Amino acid sequence: MFYSDDVVEEVRARNDIVDVISGYVKLQRKGSSYFGLCPFHNEKSPSFSVSPGKQMYYCFGCGAGGNVFTFIMEYENYTFPEALKMLADRAGVALPEQEYSEEAKKQRDLKSAVLDINRMAAKYYYYVLRSPQGARGMQYLKGRQLSEETMQKFGLGYAGQYSDALYRYLKKKGISDQLLKESGLMQVNEKNGMYDKFWNRVMFPIMDVNNKVIGFGGRVMGDAKPKYLNSPETVIFDKSRNLYGLNFARTAKKPYILVCEGYMDVISMHQAGFTNAVASLGTALTSQHASLLKRYTEEVILTYDSDDAGVRAALRAIPLLKAAGISTRVLHMEPYKDPDEFIQALGTDAFQERIDRAENSFLFELSVMQRSYDMKDPDAKTRFFQAVAAKIADFELEIERENYIEAVTGRFGVSFEGMRRMVMNVLMQGVPVRKTPVRRQERPEKEDGIKKSQRLLLTWLTEYPKLFVTVSQYVHPEDFSDELYRKVASMLYEQLQRGELNPARITSRFTDPQQQRTVAQLFNTEVPVESPKEQEKAIAETIKKVMKYGIEQRTAQLDPTDIAGLQKLVDAKKRLQELGGLHISL
Ligand code: CTP
Ligand code: MN
Repeated sequence: MFYSDDVVEEVRARNDIVDVISGYVKLQRKGSSYFGLCPFHNEKSPSFSVSPGKQMYYCFGCGAGGNVFTFIMEYENYTFPEALKMLADRAGVALPEQEYSEEAKKQRDLKSAVLDINRMAAKYYYYVLRSPQGARGMQYLKGRQLSEETMQKFGLGYAGQYSDALYRYLKKKGISDQLLKESGLMQVNEKNGMYDKFWNRVMFPIMDVNNKVIGFGGRVMGDAKPKYLNSPETVIFDKSRNLYGLNFARTAKKPYILVCEGYMDVISMHQAGFTNAVASLGTALTSQHASLLKRYTEEVILTYDSDDAGVRAALRAIPLLKAAGISTRVLHMEPYKDPDEFIQALGTDAFQERIDRAENSFLFELSVMQRSYDMKDPDAKTRFFQAVAAKIADFELEIERENYIEAVTGRFGVSFEGMRRMVMNVLMQGVPVRKTPVRRQERPEKEDGIKKSQRLLLTWLTEYPKLFVTVSQYVHPEDFSDELYRKVASMLYEQLQRGELNPARITSRFTDPQQQRTVAQLFNTEVPVESPKEQEKAIAETIKKVMKYGIEQRTAQLDPTDIAGLQKLVDAKKRLQELGGLHISL
């Protein structure tokens, strides 16, 4: 859904950033800003700042930053439309109704009806578990060491002994057979008509990230088969896109997410305080799961069962996670089968220790690979090391390769030089020659310097808007070195020309939190200066530097037939020369 810039701005302007963030972080006033402990990284002294003037926040420790939308997106892990809705509600702004096509409207109505039914069913099962009818279920769950609190948190329930109890309950609520069929909670056959999918089972409601019940898993209370029954795919339930427990894990504020196999594992881990645990829903991890996870974390620790199936599942998951940009470690549960059993047997501290010792996924892959080589046989051993070298050669950066060579040296007792040469050999075989890393490493550094100057200039413009008159004579938005910088600069210039200054509004023109973070950085760059004199000198130098770079860049890109462009450049160069004695006074 697209919302106009005006609507977005109204919502933003009606949610004062200090007000909103105070609801999450304890802030203290210091000069013209507020400071607190950054909620996006661990720290002991406050480097998280909120500026009421700019209506933006910025963390000098980790670089997190943006406007009130960015904060809500990052803290609550919301998408931009979700954050917009929440803040609109908070401030009582009515958002324009989305215009749906007839077909889309039908689908939306169906989805919301099916969501309603699933919610009603969850309430029903929940109620039955706590009624006399649910005694057997309650006894089972207590036998598995679950506390009342845990059962409540996960909304656990019970489907009793009758195979039409839920059907009758929902019929009484006036739900049509047609909708019940879509809900995934019923089965139909010729002989019995429609009846419940679940009975005689303890029920695990499955919630999406917004705490909406989208399906169920039901477990038998003994050894009967199948152990679990799950809701089928419906208009609201897509197993490959949802993870059990993610609604809680997403706000756990830990730098990693624990991914396991089962409902009971997730619940046990949460009960033991590992509230960042999730499970895929009785299916292998998919690439959609991986990108879902990437929204919430940079690192996954796999806590799959310790049997062969678990190892195979881990080997399949690792490359998918890597492709999504997530780094993975693998937790070893031996001698226990799964996290639930482990925690029952050894407790929380021991589990935490296993987390701390979880193995780098690459080394895990190598250990598994090693099992198929007879390491006592010199030839087999050589082949193993060759296979290792081939895998290491896949890493793009030289530094990565060296780090892995070092790790392998320690782990498998091969010499560093020997392994390095093997890796080199693999790399040499691969034609065409790989990108030379030298260039790639040199450029960013130079760019970083100039980019920092550009950021400083934009920050100063927001802090001393009076500078605009001078700065705009020399530096133009097209002098900035990348697309995003240029866009932000031209928006800021536009505002300053109109005599307005509203960096937070500029920030919401970008809906991706990564971009918003960069924008925040553009408005929050600092260099240490000791006195106002020095500050003035720094500003003059920065103007010159940014202007010079802009000229260089445009010269390099100039089309030789573009006479007007050439003339502009010549003029600019002249002005740069005259700028020698530029004096800024604040
Ligand atoms: N599963 C399933 N259908 C089955 C068996 C398993 O959907 N017939 C899924 C469930 O999501 C289950 C997960 O696979 O949670 C892992 O299965 P398993 O390890 O057998 O179960 P646990 O989660 O360990 O459950 P419990 O501790 O109750 O045995
Ligand atoms: Mn188990």
